[in-house]
Amino acid sequence: MKKVFGIFMLALLVMVGKVRADEGMWLPMFVERLNYVDMQKMGLQLTPEELYSINHNSLKDAIVGLGDSPMPRGFFCTGEIVSEHGLLFTNHHCGYGSIQKLSSDEHDYLRDGFWAKDYSEELPAADMTASFLIRMEDVTKEVLSVVTDDMDFQDRQSAISAKAKEIEAAASEGGKYNPVVKGFFEGNEYYMFVYQVYTDVRLVGVANSSIGKFGGDTDNWMWPRHTGDFSIFRVYADKDGNPAAYSKDNVPLTPKHHLPVSLDGVKQDDFTMIWGFPGSTERYMSSYGIDYNVETFYPLIIDIFGKQLEVMEEYMKADEHINLMYADNHAGLANTWKNFIGQCTMLRKNKVSETKVALENDFTNWVNSDANRKAEYGKALPNLKDAYAQLNQVSKYVYYPNFVSGIGAAGRASLFSAYYEAVQNKDKDAEAVALTMMQQIDVDELFAEVDQQVEKKTFAEMLKTYRNAFNADELPEIFNIIDKKFKGDIDAFTEEVYANSIFATPESIKAFIEKPKAKKIEKDYAYIMNTSMMEVIMSGIPAYRQAMTTVSENDHIFVKGLREYYAATQPGKSLYPDANSTMRMSYGSVQDYQPADAVHYDYVCTANGILQKYVPGDYEFDAPKRLIDLIEKKDFGQYADDNGELIVCFLSTNDITGGNSGSPIMNAKGELLGLAFDGNWEAMSGDVNFEPKLQRTINVDIRYVLFIIDKYAGATRLIDELDIRKAEPQPIRVEEEQI
Ligand code: ARG
Repeated sequence: MKKVFGIFMLALLVMVGKVRADEGMWLPMFVERLNYVDMQKMGLQLTPEELYSINHNSLKDAIVGLGDSPMPRGFFCTGEIVSEHGLLFTNHHCGYGSIQKLSSDEHDYLRDGFWAKDYSEELPAADMTASFLIRMEDVTKEVLSVVTDDMDFQDRQSAISAKAKEIEAAASEGGKYNPVVKGFFEGNEYYMFVYQVYTDVRLVGVANSSIGKFGGDTDNWMWPRHTGDFSIFRVYADKDGNPAAYSKDNVPLTPKHHLPVSLDGVKQDDFTMIWGFPGSTERYMSSYGIDYNVETFYPLIIDIFGKQLEVMEEYMKADEHINLMYADNHAGLANTWKNFIGQCTMLRKNKVSETKVALENDFTNWVNSDANRKAEYGKALPNLKDAYAQLNQVSKYVYYPNFVSGIGAAGRASLFSAYYEAVQNKDKDAEAVALTMMQQIDVDELFAEVDQQVEKKTFAEMLKTYRNAFNADELPEIFNIIDKKFKGDIDAFTEEVYANSIFATPESIKAFIEKPKAKKIEKDYAYIMNTSMMEVIMSGIPAYRQAMTTVSENDHIFVKGLREYYAATQPGKSLYPDANSTMRMSYGSVQDYQPADAVHYDYVCTANGILQKYVPGDYEFDAPKRLIDLIEKKDFGQYADDNGELIVCFLSTNDITGGNSGSPIMNAKGELLGLAFDGNWEAMSGDVNFEPKLQRTINVDIRYVLFIIDKYAGATRLIDELDIRKAEPQPIRVEEEQI
C-alpha cells in the first residue's frame, strides 16, 4: 500500500504542481475570469456555469445568508440548502440565539438538544431570515455618476447613499426582491446584490451544547478541535414558493439547487472550496490602523468585555436558569473578547504592522516619483497617521462611558431623558411627544434577559473598571457623588441604586410611567450616572467623528492608489475586495500546519480526542453519556473512515472570516464535505493579513454531523432526505503494488 501511495503522490505533484494556500474571498460573478483556470488546475470538476449563473440553477442557489431581519444588509452566518425540501445546515453557534429563544427552563434545547419528528414539530425561529442571492451587478458607474471632484468627503458619501437607495428601489420589482448596493475597495467600486429573503425559518434539529459547543471558550479559535458545530433548520415558503411570514399553511421550500453530501472525506492536498458570506476583513488597512487597534482599541474592549464575562460566568456556572438566559449574550462577548486577545498577540507575533510599513514605504516611493501621483495620493498616509493619533487620544473618552453608561439601571434611565429635558426646557410640545413615547416602552421586554443579581454585579464592576481606566480629575460627576456620599464605595452606591432608583426594577419604572415627575428623575443616581457619562461622550465625540471620517476618506484614497501601484508594479496580480457581508468564494486545499518549531498539527482529528478531552460534569468538556458509549464502542456505522475511526474536524487553507460560519466546504464536485466554523489561533491576525503558512479554516466533517444525526440522535428521517454520495471503491492496481 505504501508504495502505491508514494507513486500516487508523485503523479499528483507532476500533474498540478504544489497545491498552495489560497488567499482571497472572491466575488462569484468574477470567478470565471479571475479564478477558474487556477481552480481547475487544483482539481475542480464543475463548469463556471455550474458555480454561478444568473440564467440557470447553479451552486450559488444553495448558499444562504442568515440574518436577523428581512433587510439583507448584513448576515451573521451562512447556511446551505441540503435537500429538495429546503433543509438547511449551519453551525450550532449560528443557531444558538434562536435556539435559546425557543428554549425555556422546562425545554432547554441548548442543554438537551432538539429533534423534530416531522414537519409539524419544527419550531419557527422568529429571529432568523434566509437570503438567497438572485444576481449581482456592477453599478459603479451609476453610483459614482453623482460624485464630483469638488465635493467634500461627507457630501460624497451622502450623494452615494441617496443614489444607492434609488438603484435599490428600482431593482426591487415592486417588493419581490430585496436589493442592496455595497461599496468595495473602500468606496472605489459599487455592486448591487439582489436577494429573495425568506422569513419563515424553522428549527429542525440540534444536538446538546455539550456536542455543538464541546470545548467551549477554552477551545474556541483553536485547533485541534472536537466540536460538533452544526444545527439544522428548514426554509418555508408559501404554496407558490415565495417568501411569506410564518403561517401554518406554509410549506417547505423547493430550492433551485441543493448540495449533495459526500461520505468520502478528505485527504491532504484535496481541493476544497467554501462559499458564504464573510462579514468583514481589513486586508488593506494601513500600519497606523493596525497599531491603533493593537495598542488602544482592542485592549480597551478586552478590558470592558473581560470584566463583564467574569461576572456572567460566575452566575451562569452556578445557576441553570441564568445559564440559559445569558447563553447567547455570553457566547457573543466571549467570542469577540478572545478574538481581540488573539489579534493583539498574533498581529504582533506575525509582524503584520512591519509588513505593512514595508509596503507603505514602497508605495510612498512610487507615489513620490511622479508629480501627479504625489498630488493625488501623497497625503493619504500622513493623514491616516494623524487621524489614528487623534483616535488614540480620544477613543477611551468615547468607549468607556459609552459601554458603562448603558449598563442596567443607568442604560434604562436614558430612555427618560427626552421627557426630563422637555420639562426642564418648559417645552410643552416636546413633553407631550416624550410622554407618548414613554407610554410605548415595553417595560417587561427591557427585563426579558435580565437577572438582577448579574446586572447589579456587572453595574458595580463596570464602574470600577471605568474608575481604574482614568485619572481622578477625568472622572464624570457620578464618581464625585460616590466619593462624597458613599466614601468611594462603589458596592454601597450600587446597593443604593438598586434599592431606590426608578430604573432598577420593572415595577418602579411602571409606577413612574403612570405618574411621571421630572423632579424625581433629576435626583435619581442611575440617571445622574448616565447623563454625567453622556457628557464625557459628547465632549469626545466631535474629535472622534472627525478622525473616523478622515480615516474613511484617506483609506479610500490610499486603496485607490494601492490598486494603481499594484497594476503598475505587479501586473497580473488580481486583487480581491475586503469582506463586507456579500457572497464570496474561496478555494484552497486540505492541509496540516506547523504552529511552532518542532510542533506538527495533523489536518484531521478523531473522536478519540473527545474521549481524551472529556471531563464529566465540566462546564465546557462534559459530553453526553450516549456519545461517549458510541465512541468507546467505535459504533460509527457508515461514517467511519477507512481505518474505522470517526473524523470529527479537518483543516483547509480556505480564506474565510466571521460570517462564513456555517458555510459549506465542498470537494471538486461541489459535494458537501463539512461546515466551516472557525479560524485558528496562530493566524488570528488573518483578517488583516493572510498568513499562508499558518492560516487554516476549521471545518466540522460532514460524516461526524451525519453520525450525530443518525447514530446519536436517531433522526433518520433527515438522513433519508439528503442526497448522499459515496465514490465507488477504487480497484486495487496490482501492477503498482508490485513496483
Ligand atoms: N469562533 C467562532 C466564530 O467566530 C465561534 C465559536 C463559538 N463558540 C464558542 N465557544 N463561543 O465563528
